[in-house]
Order: sequence, then C-alpha cells, then structure tokens
Amino acid sequence: MSTPLLSVRDLSKHYTSRGTRLNILQGISFDLGKGEVVGLVGESGSGKTTIGRTVLRLVEPSSGSVRFDGTELTALSASALRRQRPRMQYIFQDPFASLSPRMTIGEILTEGLKIQGIGTARDRLERARSALAQVDLPADAINRYAHEFSGGQRQRIGIARALTLSPEFIVADEPVSALDVSIQAQVINLLRELQQRLGLTMLFISHDLAVVEYICDRVIVLYLGRIMEVAPSADLYARPQHPYTRALLSAIPSPDPDARRNRQILKGDIPSPANPPSGCVFRTRCPSALDACAGTIPQLREVAPGHLKACIRDDLN
Ligand SMILES: Nc1ncnc2c1ncn2[C@@H]1O[C@H](COP(=O)(O)OP(=O)(O)OP(=O)(O)O)[C@@H](O)[C@H]1O
Ligand code: SF4
Ligand SMILES: [Mg+2]
Repeated sequence: MSTPLLSVRDLSKHYTSRGTRLNILQGISFDLGKGEVVGLVGESGSGKTTIGRTVLRLVEPSSGSVRFDGTELTALSASALRRQRPRMQYIFQDPFASLSPRMTIGEILTEGLKIQGIGTARDRLERARSALAQVDLPADAINRYAHEFSGGQRQRIGIARALTLSPEFIVADEPVSALDVSIQAQVINLLRELQQRLGLTMLFISHDLAVVEYICDRVIVLYLGRIMEVAPSADLYARPQHPYTRALLSAIPSPDPDARRNRQILKGDIPSPANPPSGCVFRTRCPSALDACAGTIPQLREVAPGHLKACIRDDLN
C-alpha cells in the first residue's frame, strides 16, 4: 500500500437507547493508502454508514483514533475540523433527499465554497461550472432545480458538489443503489474515471459485491460492527478465507450451475447490537462454528500478504 492517507485505530461507536447500550462498531482498524479505493461491504445494519460518518466526524466516535494525513481528527476543535472539511467529502446514497429542492444547482454547488470563504461569487460559479463539466452535465444546469433532473443526473450533481471543494478523500455511501440498474453502470464508470484522473482516495460503501469487485483495490468485510476480513479485491474474490465472506460471495447471482449448487444461505438475521453473541459475533450464523468460538473474540491476523481474517479456524482453506 502507498503512504496511508487515513489510519483508523480501534474505533468504536455505541449508542444508548432506553438504558440499553447498543454496540454498533467495535475495534475497527484499517488504513487507506493515498489514491486507493477500498470497498466496505456487509449486510444491512452491519455498521457501514456509521464507519463512513465517524471517520469524517459527521458522527462522533465513542473511542479510537482517526488520523487523516497525519492529523488526529478526533482531537480537532470545531473550527479546526471545519478547515479540514474540504479535503474530505461524503457522497450520499439518496440523490433525491440530499439535494435541497429550494436551491438552484448553482447554489447547491457553491454552498460549500461559500461556507469555507473560498473565492469571490464569480470564482465560485466558475468552479461550479467546471465541476458540472467533470460529471458530464451541461453548464445551463446551474440555474435549474434538482427536481428537473433524473435520478442519475441528480447523483452526478451530488458528485459535482463533492468535487467543487477539490477533496482528496471521498466516502461514497451506496452511491448507485437508489438508481435504476441501467443507470448504475454509467455513474460507477464516472466515479472510477474521476477517481483515477484526480487521484482520489475513496471508501466505497456497498452491498453490491459485483460493483465492489469492479471498482475497489481492496475490500473490508464487516459483520455486526466488527471487521471479519480484509484483502486485495482479486485475492478476496478468488480466495475468501472467512466463512462470512464465503457466504456473501456465494450469494452473488451466477450463471454457473456449480456455483448455484454451492450456494450457502445464511440462516437467520444479524443479531441485535444490544445483545451481540459472545466470542465471535458471527458464530450464531456460522456454518463452521465450534464450541470454542463462543469463548474468544477472534483478532484480525494475516493469512496471506495483505490478507487478514478474524476467525480462529485455520483448517477451512
Ligand atoms: N443514531 C442511532 N441510534 C441508535 N442506533 C443507530 C443509530 N444510527 C445507526 N444505528 C444502528 O447502527 C447499526 C448500523 O447502522 P448503519 O446505518 O451504520 O448500517 P449499514 O451497514 O450502513 O446498513 P445499510 O446497509 O442498511 O445502510 C444499525 O443497527 C442501526 O440501527
Ligand atoms: S471464529 Fe468460529 S464462528 Fe467465527 S467465523 Fe470462525 S469458525 Fe465461524
Ligand atoms: Mg448504510
């Protein structure tokens, strides 16, 4: 990996709801290299969005460290954090809810620059126009409103809004899952092209494992707020090591009858974060669980170069 731009160590997040502690994230550690695209996958409720938001401090972590380009973000004052904001941007899942219906696209695209006090009104409009061109939207979009655009175009506007601030790091949270399947590939290709051209570092959150394989250099697999496996994409898809990853991958639709026969269906739902299983949090659904899995929390350890898994069993290869 190149020099890390983001280093997350032992990040945790809990909420308290009616006197019950909900453990949403526990012991999350990972690095993102400069210019790297890392996928974050896991079933609904596993904590993907919470990781994306806590690393940008849109949500306060309960404990742990988040270093961005050498700066400890968790220790920054509100004003110091505001100065770092342009460098890291969030692209939201829902392009309908995330764009104000009362603002023109020009106002939406220049808002962040205005808050940061960057440039004159004319400079800001110029940057908005250039961001629109980068996402292949016409310049006259600037005077129009979000409702005049299709879902795919709105997501392009969401991407343009992130780009006006010339960020280095982007969290893209399910950026295409609200779009028609026919539009998804266009927006994914646009994101990939922009990422490469601008050298962006990206945390790409998705439950679509085929899209993640296509766009990501490495993948982090999350289950009930804990990392189960981390590996370079090619390695993860060819040689998944963790029973949870294997189950997720076997659920990808495949035309191959062998693959369909070997499908592992995960039984039951993710347990509640109010009452996570002892030991390995995956054990209540794991087809390979042993009695010992209830007693120890498996730590992430390297099983091949750059390939880490959190499972006590070594005999599953
Ligand atoms: N403000 C909150 N208060 C209490 N619980 C919360 C809060 N925000 C999130 N959670 C809980 O945290 C867990 C993880 O939520 P999160 O949105 O991070 O999951 P996710 O992996 O992004 O899921 P999805 O794929 O559905 O987007 C869920 O159980 C959710 O109910
Ligand atoms: S530690 Fe045990 S329960 Fe957890 S994934 Fe490995 S075999 Fe399954
Ligand atoms: Mg989410």
